[in-house]
Amino acid sequence: MEVRVRVFRFNPEVDRRPRYDVFTVEAEPMDRVLDLLEYIRGDIDGTLSFRRSCGHGICGSDAMRINGRNMLACKALVKNFGTNEITIEPLLGLRVLKDLIVDMEPFFEHYRSVLPYLINDEPLPEDGRERLQSPAERERFDDTTKCILCAACTTSCPSFWADGRYVGPAAIVNAHRFIFDSRDRGAAQRLEILNQQMGVWRCRTAFNCTEACPREIKITQAIAEVKRAIQTGRLD
Ligand code: SF4
Ligand code: F3S
Ligand code: FES
Repeated sequence: MEVRVRVFRFNPEVDRRPRYDVFTVEAEPMDRVLDLLEYIRGDIDGTLSFRRSCGHGICGSDAMRINGRNMLACKALVKNFGTNEITIEPLLGLRVLKDLIVDMEPFFEHYRSVLPYLINDEPLPEDGRERLQSPAERERFDDTTKCILCAACTTSCPSFWADGRYVGPAAIVNAHRFIFDSRDRGAAQRLEILNQQMGVWRCRTAFNCTEACPREIKITQAIAEVKRAIQTGRLD
């Protein structure tokens, strides 16, 4: 099949404003949008810029807006769009560095702000073994361990578009992953951070984040659990 691919182009060093380039590409229904981009860059226009690494939905580097929705280009199959027209644009809410590449630094700054690592200064058990937890305790935060930091959620959130200082759903997901870990002792510190003006209360339950997540993490539910922990002081 022939696919008409419209691609957002912008090089802030030379362009005064963005434009869309249109490429007509021969594709198979099972081809991925990433394949189309690779073909365009390899065979038509070597100046096209986009990020990719694993090609298999694991590294989180190729999140972009495809026909208006955030997704990973490596998981987006041509046949699923039901049209021969595919528009590819960079994530919203982050500065475009070139074409489909955005500046991820503000995103990672929010991520780092919630202390996304295990905090526990207590001595290890005397027998020198690791800090044990039951299968049920591990299950409590299983969903939020799946995050690949692709930013599809945060950059689909209207609250983040309105104010980029909002910590955003991805940071809250990664705070959740440690707040509800029975081995961690940093929950109070993280909940205090997320109770601030640009924390969880900026979430208006829009659900865009949950719909955008390529790992199908129940993000809005995780945010609600963090809000409840702040309100009740309970971590169950
Ligand atoms: Fe991506 Fe989902 Fe993680 Fe958000 S929660 S950064 S959408 S994997
Ligand atoms: Fe935004 Fe998700 Fe809340 S889209 S408003 S963080 S439910
Ligand atoms: Fe790694 Fe798509 S290239 S997630």
